[in-house]
Amino acid sequence: METATFEKNTTEQGIDFLPLQGTDYVEFYVGNAKQAAHFYKTAFGFQSVAYAGPETGVKDRASYVIRQHKLTFVLTTPLRSNNEIANHIYKHGDGVKTLALMVYDARDAWEQTTKRGAKSYMEPISLKDDQGEVVLSGIHTYGDTVHVFVERKNYKGVFMPGYIEWKTAYNPPSSGLLYVDHCVGNVGWNQMNPWVKFYEDVMGFKNILSFDDEDISTEYSALMSKVMSNGNGYVKFPINEPAEGKKKSQVEEYLDFYDGEGCQHVALATHDIVKTVTDLQSRGIEFLKIPSSYYDDLISRVGQIDEDLEPLKHLGILVDRDHEGYLLQIFTKPLEDRPTLFFEIIQRKGAKSFGKGNFKALFEAIEAEQALRGNL
Ligand code: FE2
Repeated sequence: METATFEKNTTEQGIDFLPLQGTDYVEFYVGNAKQAAHFYKTAFGFQSVAYAGPETGVKDRASYVIRQHKLTFVLTTPLRSNNEIANHIYKHGDGVKTLALMVYDARDAWEQTTKRGAKSYMEPISLKDDQGEVVLSGIHTYGDTVHVFVERKNYKGVFMPGYIEWKTAYNPPSSGLLYVDHCVGNVGWNQMNPWVKFYEDVMGFKNILSFDDEDISTEYSALMSKVMSNGNGYVKFPINEPAEGKKKSQVEEYLDFYDGEGCQHVALATHDIVKTVTDLQSRGIEFLKIPSSYYDDLISRVGQIDEDLEPLKHLGILVDRDHEGYLLQIFTKPLEDRPTLFFEIIQRKGAKSFGKGNFKALFEAIEAEQALRGNL
């Protein structure tokens, strides 16, 4: 696990002007936050942490903060129509609004990024209560998605000022999820490179991997992807765009139903994927089904692995290897009725890549689901 240092990181290119400690939280705008919180607790094993709403003096929204190890989700719903949150849900359905990043200095993060061309979402603001101070600032990224910079080095409370501790009698056990591994954005035709440039210029990220439509294509559809990483590698944002194929790309289907660009999936890390996925399936989470033929020549493709093959095959867990090690991964079906946001569960055993060897099997499985929806 990553260790906590807040110093500016020196990279080959010099000082990292936007040192990030990792993902602080992911905020979802949802139609019913009370029910969503119950779902994420029950189905994924999150714990109740904090709450803000009318009872705490917030008039326009209710927000539930839930956590599992270092993974924090905020579920926010509007209390009335005709406001930014309600309009976001009307347009996009439930989805990711905020990818919040932990910083040492939120004022500096805002200045460094806005002076390099980022559009401001939130000017730096200091929030204080008897537990200390949190400083927030924010910038826009693709679609209606935003990055909020969170400075909490002087705060001891459960989440941030404005929230109260949320204690519940119902506390389902953890499923072993640990932290955000990466968050993927889907952007429109010819928009991948402009957003790659945004992360390079505005946030000082580097393009660490690229996949073209030859790498990511099936008989029917294609997409392109570039992985952006910050200096210390704690924050990774792959960016996908659709590519021409015989039929509709899964990225196009997302853009249609999300009605614009947005977060396609959040990858959640575990140290024991067989245990976590067994648990999640027993709680009702549905995963993409991979043809069992995928496992016939798996070991000849990826070499020896520590895990028994049978449970991987039974659960549908995919394996891929790069020069540093291997990884195990699996993808849920979309978590909404719209075919939009889904989650990846990932266990890394040395590999720092993203499962290129699994793309074909995975996208064929996605296409089978797309065809069922009549969208291929
Ligand atoms: Fe992923």
